[in-house]
Amino acid sequence: MTEAMAEGYDAHSRYQLEAAGSYAGVVRHAAGDAVQDVRDPFVGIADYGCAQGQSSDPLLREAIAEIRTTRPRSPIFVCHNDQPSNDWAALLDRLEGPDSYLAVSDGPVTPLISPVSFYTPVLPRGTVHLGVSFAAAQWLSVPGPTDAGTAVYFDQLEGEHREAMRRQAQADWGTFLRLRADELAPGGRLVMDLMVVADDGTPAGHDLWRELRRICLDMADEGRIDSARLARYVLPVYERTREEVLEPFEAGSAGGLAIEALATRPIPNPYAERYRRDGDAEAYGADFAGFVRAFAGPSLRRGLDLSPDAEDEIFRRLAQAVSERADGFWFEVTTILLVVARA
Ligand SMILES: C[S@@+](CC[C@H](N)C(=O)[O-])C[C@H]1O[C@@H](n2cnc3c(N)ncnc32)[C@H](O)[C@@H]1O
Repeated sequence: MTEAMAEGYDAHSRYQLEAAGSYAGVVRHAAGDAVQDVRDPFVGIADYGCAQGQSSDPLLREAIAEIRTTRPRSPIFVCHNDQPSNDWAALLDRLEGPDSYLAVSDGPVTPLISPVSFYTPVLPRGTVHLGVSFAAAQWLSVPGPTDAGTAVYFDQLEGEHREAMRRQAQADWGTFLRLRADELAPGGRLVMDLMVVADDGTPAGHDLWRELRRICLDMADEGRIDSARLARYVLPVYERTREEVLEPFEAGSAGGLAIEALATRPIPNPYAERYRRDGDAEAYGADFAGFVRAFAGPSLRRGLDLSPDAEDEIFRRLAQAVSERADGFWFEVTTILLVVARA
């Protein structure tokens, strides 16, 4: 099993929040379509890889409001899925807030938690009418190759190691889709986005992980990181190409799911955008390093067996490197948004 996000992920996930925020109309539409012919006495919603729910909660609220227009009294369940080590307390706190989907009027809404890997069944067969999943399916089911030397990101791997990670990513993607197909009710919809490489073939993490590799190698030389651990660690994230995302659908190995809508687009980096407005390189470095730590910190900590001081130092150096190279540092996520339906 791979690691969940760091505690405090919400405070450092503006990037993910802005991406998900742009999908409100798509989710609302999919929710309406998904319940059109429902005969079940309930409506099931699932959020796969929810973290603390900050990005998806407004979208779930939209979806429930839409479902209520045609099914005002149907009981609805919303199942939040993430790794067991997720910060579930923060998610539950959010559900008590005034903006929570629980505040939508009419019939009952029951929140559920399924703290298992989404590479295993998350809910019983045929119970999900609307699934959502944002910025999650690029995380693989297992750690990266352990014999690839000092590469820390998939695009630093070469030859057979790179191919092994590609194969793992494609096997995971097929597994994810087939499991979701099984969980979707007939007519159910899944709205999801995941990272893909940019049109010119450059992964979003290229520059970032080159810096992190350099920092880790320096710290290994200084005896602050275990070189043997570093040689065995690769972040378990793979940015697929658009073709790799489409592969299971074209090969008929997506559990019968059909693509209804698809859009690829770059998501502007909010930290870099602010830097371009205010010129504050130090704040850019600090906030960007906080963003990276929130998603990659737990994996690095466990993979490299970092002391708290060593982890602090990695991200202090990253913040410094980004602020020193503020004008030349590039990090921009390209996402593919998919709406898929179970026939
Ligand atoms: C970058 S975060 C995105 C969180 C949230 N969906 C958002 O848009 O802000 C990726 C999430 O996927 C979760 N995740 C990664 N692999 C997972 C797995 N195998 N099963 C369940 N959740 C997983 C992580 O724990 C994390 O919460």
